[in-house]
Amino acid sequence: MTSLQGPSLAAVRLSDVDLGLAHLLDEAELARATTFRSSALRDTFTAGRIALRLHISALTGDSPGSLTADYFCPTCSNRAGHGIPQYQVPSRAGRLRASLSRSGNWCLLAASLDERPAGIGVDIENGSAADFDGFPSLVMTANERGQLQEVPPALKARFQTRLWVRKEAVLKALGTGLAQEPSAIDVSGSTPAGLSGPPAAALWKVEDLSPAAVGMPGDFAASIATWQPRDVGPQ
Ligand SMILES: CC(C)(COP(=O)(O)OP(=O)(O)OC[C@H]1O[C@@H](n2cnc3c(N)ncnc32)[C@H](O)[C@@H]1OP(=O)(O)O)[C@@H](O)C(=O)NCCC(=O)NCCS
Repeated sequence: MTSLQGPSLAAVRLSDVDLGLAHLLDEAELARATTFRSSALRDTFTAGRIALRLHISALTGDSPGSLTADYFCPTCSNRAGHGIPQYQVPSRAGRLRASLSRSGNWCLLAASLDERPAGIGVDIENGSAADFDGFPSLVMTANERGQLQEVPPALKARFQTRLWVRKEAVLKALGTGLAQEPSAIDVSGSTPAGLSGPPAAALWKVEDLSPAAVGMPGDFAASIATWQPRDVGPQ
């Protein structure tokens, strides 16, 4: 477990997760696992959810099976096991905020004991994930496209992927995911621009994570974003 300032982070190789621990998951999680079209996708989902429980359990001292997953989807206002990851843990009042991202055989997990952040998001991708022709027009703001012009050709793919993981981390921290247009939010600076509502006036922290620092292979890009209202103290 890597304890950087802020949420506690851990990178996990999904194939290392003991799927025999699936009994730790609750009914909604097990029901969602049955919806995947292949056993590989089901196992990837299940391994991530087990790993997140183990991560939170190591952080709070509660047994992993005692956590209540309380995910909330703001798009469909549903608590049926998808959307923003939140957990109720016996040792604490309120809901513990978490985030998770899977890519290939890897998963990055984040959980926070700090109750001040209103949103946490992590995202990982392998280095060439955003290396396709339509990416700049589909996903980037005009300002980000301007910055891309300054990047040497050999580094453009890496630049785009780094921008993408920042963007997804911010969209997860907002709780919207891709229900919000990624091209409307500029993540080229330390504070995202183009936001509306309370997050626009909030304190943001958006960081590129070194894959080595979190224990992932060097060809990954990883980012974490957190935000909190200004009146609840410094991050
Ligand atoms: C969030 C999202 C950007 C992540 O996509 P991805 O890069 O393919 O996948 P990742 O592995 O990086 O992240 C998946 C995790 O994101 C988190 N997540 C999903 N929706 C989220 C949301 N609205 N806010 C914050 N985090 C979310 C969950 O922890 C999920 O893990 P799970 O599969 O165990 O539930 C994408 O799934 C998305 O946009 N979802 C919302 C779309 C929507 O509104 N759908 C309507 C459903 S009714």
